[in-house]
Amino acid sequence: MRQAAPGIVPFLTLDRRSTVPLYRQLYEGFRSAILDGRLRAGQRIPSTRALAQELRVSRLPVLNAFEQLVAEGYFDSRTGSGTFIAKMSSESRPAPRDLRAPEPARGRRRVPRETDFLLSNTGDPWLGGWGPFRVSEPAADRFPHEVWSRLLGRHGRAARRDVRTMHYGDPMGYRPFREAVAEYLRTSRAVRCEADQVMAVSGSQQALSLAARVLLEVGSPVWLEEPGYRGARDVFRLRNARLVPVPVDEEGLDVAAGIEKCPDASAVYVTPSHQYPLGMVMSASRRLQLLDWARRSGSWIIEDDYDSEYRYESLPIASLQGLDRDARVLYVGTFSKVLFPALRLGYLVLPRDLVGRFVAVRDATDIFPPTFPQAVAADFIREGHFARHVRKTRALYRERRAALVGALRDELGDAVEVQGDEAGMHLVASLNRRLDDQAVAARASRRGLWTMPLSSCYLGRAPRRGFVLGFAGADEGRIREGVRTLRAVLRDQSLGKD
Ligand SMILES: Cc1ncc(COP(=O)(O)O)c(C=O)c1O
Repeated sequence: MRQAAPGIVPFLTLDRRSTVPLYRQLYEGFRSAILDGRLRAGQRIPSTRALAQELRVSRLPVLNAFEQLVAEGYFDSRTGSGTFIAKMSSESRPAPRDLRAPEPARGRRRVPRETDFLLSNTGDPWLGGWGPFRVSEPAADRFPHEVWSRLLGRHGRAARRDVRTMHYGDPMGYRPFREAVAEYLRTSRAVRCEADQVMAVSGSQQALSLAARVLLEVGSPVWLEEPGYRGARDVFRLRNARLVPVPVDEEGLDVAAGIEKCPDASAVYVTPSHQYPLGMVMSASRRLQLLDWARRSGSWIIEDDYDSEYRYESLPIASLQGLDRDARVLYVGTFSKVLFPALRLGYLVLPRDLVGRFVAVRDATDIFPPTFPQAVAADFIREGHFARHVRKTRALYRERRAALVGALRDELGDAVEVQGDEAGMHLVASLNRRLDDQAVAARASRRGLWTMPLSSCYLGRAPRRGFVLGFAGADEGRIREGVRTLRAVLRDQSLGKD
């Protein structure tokens, strides 16, 4: 017979000195937990043996209490599969006691206002759902699930033989993962690094957050690309840094403009291989200019290399970090795009003199990254599955990109201009007419289409409007349908329809 899965022991208090017999206390304890909703219909109850052991009582009072609860219809006992909380019709169930958390009391409640600005982000309608144009959505349906599950199983089983993978680990991450990442970055991204400089992080966002904590203090000026990545902007603002928007042009970040605005910035955040969101590559002369400025001003460069595995017209662009002779660059990468974002796995390559500080701050933040996802990812890379997946998805995304560009041309003609489609997993469709892209995005979201308005990527006034459209996560049919919906929304917006 299959063994029944154990249930979770509910919180019951027993008073051994009371004159109320134990079986009665148990019965009352369960009954009131069911009536006030702490225990819900269908929930599994532990076996009488397990419960007696856990509560340190003999089995007899437990058996008596169970018998009574079954007889009164609170428990449902199914032979062979265990005992469950019975379903009760709402009439037979008394109104549950109010189990909600208490309402905040009036009076003084100290909550600093520093996080207020983030509250407004969460209300943006275009962030509310998924759909064909979601920027950070890779092709989950083409992921090699079989291989991944096999590796997960392998590491799950291996933990039985070597329990060290279940212990607390290194704040920098799991060594085999860091070695695999270092090798990959040296080979494919021309990053100059060893495994001891690689820190595993829960996505680029954590890398940026740690970098902000270590490198900046309140009021430190930071250059940000304008337009740029809101994830970075929020992190630096949360640190109370002074944000300095620096324009980008066809050569990427305009370093001279940055120097003119704020020559002594503490740090700069850049996406040199594929500017987010506009898509240009930072030119070689600008890269050298930026490194030179950083050296002279003692500033740090945070390079976010978030999707450079995907270039369609040329070979991938080498990293900025690889040109750095002065250890000024912190290199950030992620598996959110190439594998999947729910993995929450990325890496941060640190200049050697910063390693100790990052380790200390990491230890005080979340101690160390979870070991198992790193172990699986390390084997995935080492055994060639990663390279194969990148190759396959590159071909797939090339097709999906063509589908989006084609659909935009067919449906919207010269109403939009496509930009930044040579690489990555998104492009920009800028509007040739002056429409409020945030109003269009809000209207589209009401029709189940989520599009990122270009103007939301600007810190200051947006000189152009449009949409940042992801194309990796949906097939051609959904892409075409999405563009048709966008066309209808744009038409309604121009006509001023409600
Ligand atoms: C510029 C940029 N950096 C990084 C990321 C990925 O963030 P994470 O690794 O935290 O999932 C994204 C995702 O959309 C991005 O657009």
